Amino acid sequence: MRNDQFLKACRKEKTDYTPVWLMRQAGRYMEEYRKIRSKVDFLTMCKTPDLAAEVTLQPIKRIGVDAAIIFADILLPLEPMGIKLEFAKNEGPVINNPIRSSSDVDALRSINTEEELSFLPEAIRIVKKELNGKVPLIGFSGAPFTLASYIIEGGSSRNYIHAKKMMYNEPKIWNRLMDKISDVIINYLLAQIKAGAETVQLFDSWVGCLSVKDYRQYVLPHSKKIIDGIKKEGNVPIIHFGTNTTTLLPSMKEAGGDVLGLDWRINLDEGWEKIGFDSAVQGNLDPVVLLSNPTEIEKRVKDILKRAGGRPGHIFNLGHGILPETPVDNVIALVDMVHNFSGK
Ligand code: CP3
Repeated sequence: MRNDQFLKACRKEKTDYTPVWLMRQAGRYMEEYRKIRSKVDFLTMCKTPDLAAEVTLQPIKRIGVDAAIIFADILLPLEPMGIKLEFAKNEGPVINNPIRSSSDVDALRSINTEEELSFLPEAIRIVKKELNGKVPLIGFSGAPFTLASYIIEGGSSRNYIHAKKMMYNEPKIWNRLMDKISDVIINYLLAQIKAGAETVQLFDSWVGCLSVKDYRQYVLPHSKKIIDGIKKEGNVPIIHFGTNTTTLLPSMKEAGGDVLGLDWRINLDEGWEKIGFDSAVQGNLDPVVLLSNPTEIEKRVKDILKRAGGRPGHIFNLGHGILPETPVDNVIALVDMVHNFSGK
């Protein structure tokens, strides 16, 4: 591996400079992405290994980040489970048969990623060949709560009413659903690792809607089971990410992960302290800062690096995914700043 700074930071080893990559770094803010996307819909892009590989590599070439993340989606494993998934124009994901009852849960199938989602390991193999050791490749999956929220609500949600109702009224059905989802996630992640992903990130994007007590009771055991399973079989660093998690951080650490994600709602040093300095952390610039100007971005980058304090185990990232409106020049400037101010 020519650039192993990201993997070293995952393992809390000393690095020459602070490695940086950006969640959703392959996406609509890039002209190169929009050019392909104007011809094919999002799901077709994910399911065509050559296209997924091409888009994965775009930010490596243009932005100079220290890691690639495979172009895919957390919702892809839902289809072979028997869930009808669509990406409606300007609406985001829509599930036409949301899972609400015991018999709905019974009908969900387990999956075989290598057979039913073969495009994903294939895309990973192409990316690995093209990268030829330039930077490491990250695989990913949704975490069980975030996937359950889509499956039960039928799409994005504001108050997670149906998901929480199942949790509170029917905890046995909830746990059965979480068990099924967890088995799917383990299969999905191990197939990515087997195909060559050097790290995996578990996205629990919406878990911050839960109280600490509910997280610990209804979610932590399932996330822990997945992380323990991957650690045992996969032997790669795991990044455990969520947003709005200021109160949940110690419990998320208990669930596991070598690297914990931090969003911008908490100062990086305070978040790191809550997690414990024995873990690595990833974050935590507000993605909207990238819509401002280079002077403002510089101020914020310096503040985050100062808070990281040169401790080993900081991976610079945004606190959540990059927004489609982001000027690409600001993204390039950000990556250069992180590198230059941290000693590259
Ligand atoms: O980081 C990367 O560059 C890898 C690609 C990636 C995508 N989705 C591609 C994508 C990753 C890591 C994801 C994860 C994902 N998908 C999450 C967790 C991360 C997060 O943002 O919290 C979630 C919640 C999803 C579900 C999902 N997929 C939503 C809600 C949407 C619609 C929102 C939107 O931005 O339009 C998607 C679609 C999606 N996934 C796009 C991309 C590039 C946009 C598709 C398009 O081109 O229209």
